[in-house]
Amino acid sequence: MDTMTITKAVGAGCGALLIFLLGGWAAEGLYHVGGEAHEGEEIVQGYAIEVADAGEAAEVSDEPEIPFEEVFVNASAEAGERLWRQCAACHKLDGSNATGPYLNGVVGRDKGAVDGYSYSDTLATMEGDWTPENLSSFLHAPNDYAPGTKMAYRGMSDIEDRANLIAYLASVGG
Ligand code: HEC
Repeated sequence: MDTMTITKAVGAGCGALLIFLLGGWAAEGLYHVGGEAHEGEEIVQGYAIEVADAGEAAEVSDEPEIPFEEVFVNASAEAGERLWRQCAACHKLDGSNATGPYLNGVVGRDKGAVDGYSYSDTLATMEGDWTPENLSSFLHAPNDYAPGTKMAYRGMSDIEDRANLIAYLASVGG
């Protein structure tokens, strides 16, 4: 019984030591191999991603931006009429003001100049007339074009949509 216990203990001890040693050796191997591979991988990956990103960004910004004027030439007032829904909640086309000023005749009209409409300071003090071009800039991102405007509209990102909508507005005289 005693002998068995000692044998078992020694056996277990040896086994544990062997596993410990093997484990350490294996871990060392793994550490080195894994470390190297990982490091190498990282460098390659980081480099590849950087290049891909740069390429992509360059591609996007290199893409010729079609000037608004060119898009506007082919704009469809009919298609624009369907987009008017996005504005109709706040604007009217019958010469009466709502949340926003009436927009019949807005193309070519002085900015912030509808009588009886209470504009934000930004719009009220803006110089010049609404041309198709600057309407496009305004509608693209109202708050960028007119910081502080009270027009709570997020903007219309599609240049063709803007051109169509402005063609529609231009067809609705004031
Ligand atoms: C949530 C309401 C709201 C929506 C939607 C909205 N507007 Fe406006 N809009 C306003 C308000 C309010 C003003 C006045 C802004 C100011 O005084 O800063 C305004 C001002 C304008 C002006 C300036 C008019 C002037 O007399 O100088 C134009 C142009 C205009 N909006 C076009 C549009 C178009 C086109 C759409 C649809 C794509 C649209 N808005 C959608 C509320 C809105």
